[in-house]
Amino acid sequence: MNYSDIHAAIGKWYGIHGRHDLPWRQTDDPYLIYISEMMLQQTQVKTVLKRFFFPFIERFPTLQSIKEASVDDLLLAWQGLGYYRRARYIHQTAQVSAPRLPTDPAELVKLPGIGKSTAHAIAAFSTHLPVAVLDANVKRVLHRFFAEKERKEKRLWTLAEKLLDCENPYIYNQAMMDIGATVCLPKAPRCDLCPLASRCLGREKPLHYPQPARKKTRPLHHQAYLWIEKEGKILMRKREGDMLGGLWELPSVESPPPKSEKIAEIVHDYSHFRRIAEIYISADTEQIEGEWLDYGELENIAISSLERKIFKKLKQ
Ligand code: ADE
Repeated sequence: MNYSDIHAAIGKWYGIHGRHDLPWRQTDDPYLIYISEMMLQQTQVKTVLKRFFFPFIERFPTLQSIKEASVDDLLLAWQGLGYYRRARYIHQTAQVSAPRLPTDPAELVKLPGIGKSTAHAIAAFSTHLPVAVLDANVKRVLHRFFAEKERKEKRLWTLAEKLLDCENPYIYNQAMMDIGATVCLPKAPRCDLCPLASRCLGREKPLHYPQPARKKTRPLHHQAYLWIEKEGKILMRKREGDMLGGLWELPSVESPPPKSEKIAEIVHDYSHFRRIAEIYISADTEQIEGEWLDYGELENIAISSLERKIFKKLKQ
């Protein structure tokens, strides 16, 4: 199928409406593009722009600077972005790739935390390689354009490659992301503004594409934490393991010690479950292990969003 008319319309639309000012579109440095793509995997453009991208690249201007830093430094810079595994992946990537990130997608996908879409984004945006990007917004555009109901990753890749503008992969991919983010909206698509509308097979019933995802109900995990304070210090522990590993948290216990009093309950959602954090103070905490940290020190260590919520609530 020839899509040259659609490609022309997309290119024209991007020239007028594209988000050209995004800082990762003002550079061809694969490292900067890589950092933006890792941040944007799970975090919205607005948040990344407002609070994270600039401080991060100021602190870590090159892949080499990441290689030379500790994981803790990286986690601290990542603090608040969530999905901390990404920060550990970036650190691992720097260990094997610094001083230069590869730009070949086949090399990129071998690195931790880089899937096919991220690999293609880094390649398309740094070297203008004709490969398709398939983030959540682009998926929705494709579902509608091809009237494809089913959420099948493999099928969507086929469609993404079918529609890709191999002559202008940079503009095409950035434009598709922008069209997904600003025009082909999930609940209120603005088809009258869309450069794909003339041949969009889903235009009559855009809300039918894709079919609604089955609602995930997040399982509830209750966890008891202890708030143990002494002489202006607080007892904390550094988490181990993959999930939130390296971040500091209050000591957690299977069940609160006898003579405990619950002082707060905080609900916090992770991607796969909902945590009900119950915070206790107790008269009997001699046996609890951890490290005593000054309140001042909390500024300089990475703590999870849940811990930040707890501190905020208990300071009130
Ligand atoms: N999401 C992922 N990559 C992006 C990019 N380059 N521009 C805007 N949003 C994105």
